[in-house]
Amino acid sequence: MRVHVADHPLITHKLTVLRDERTPSPTFRALTSELVTLLAYEATRDVRVEEVTIQTPVTQTTGVAIAEPRPLIVPILRAGLGMLDGMVTLVPSAEVGFLGMVRNEETLEPSVYAERLPEDLSNRQCFVLDPMLATGGSLLSAIEYLFDRGAQDVTAICLLAAPEGLAAIEKAVEGRDVTIVLGALDERLNEHGYIVPGLGDAGDRLYGTV
Ligand code: PRP
Ligand code: URA
Repeated sequence: MRVHVADHPLITHKLTVLRDERTPSPTFRALTSELVTLLAYEATRDVRVEEVTIQTPVTQTTGVAIAEPRPLIVPILRAGLGMLDGMVTLVPSAEVGFLGMVRNEETLEPSVYAERLPEDLSNRQCFVLDPMLATGGSLLSAIEYLFDRGAQDVTAICLLAAPEGLAAIEKAVEGRDVTIVLGALDERLNEHGYIVPGLGDAGDRLYGTV
């Protein structure tokens, strides 16, 4: 598994505002979108392309275009939905599928409550969007779901992760083609399974249920 933790002052600056409990939902949503676009640049580094021939006003030349089958973007509802706009801004030709998951806040076990994905994901490059990688249960479940459908590789973009969750995923996906791109790797999980220092409940902060 490859892990890339962003190291850019603009990303750290935006994350700092996001973490601040005084930041209201509209600003939180706008910053989430901007952060995803910045992280997506790194996450799509290995997106498959094919050579194409084009005619410029001056001459014929070759370039590249995103290859078929197109990449599949999978936001994990609800909080991952806040990352979708920022991602499709960068890859407008990608297809989008949806997975709805919720973590039981007592047991910390995730469950799937909605799914709208292509049946066959053979040869597909999948990009999972979920702002928070805490215990890793939700993301791991999403990754397994996609590989079970035939995905070729899975790249996840998360704004924040806890080391415990990252280690759990690394162990579970051994031998699979998985990349995780993070805005920051935080200190730890607390006794409630929340990322510390974190930003609180990402879904609530995006959509105003506090
Ligand atoms: C949050 C978050 C992740 C999950 C992370 O979603 O968006 O999906 O928790 O926790 P984990 O790594 O321990 O599984 P939540 O279940 O709160 O649902 P929501 O997006 O609807 O708020
Ligand atoms: N889900 C969140 O939204 N935040 C956390 O810190 C952990 C799980």
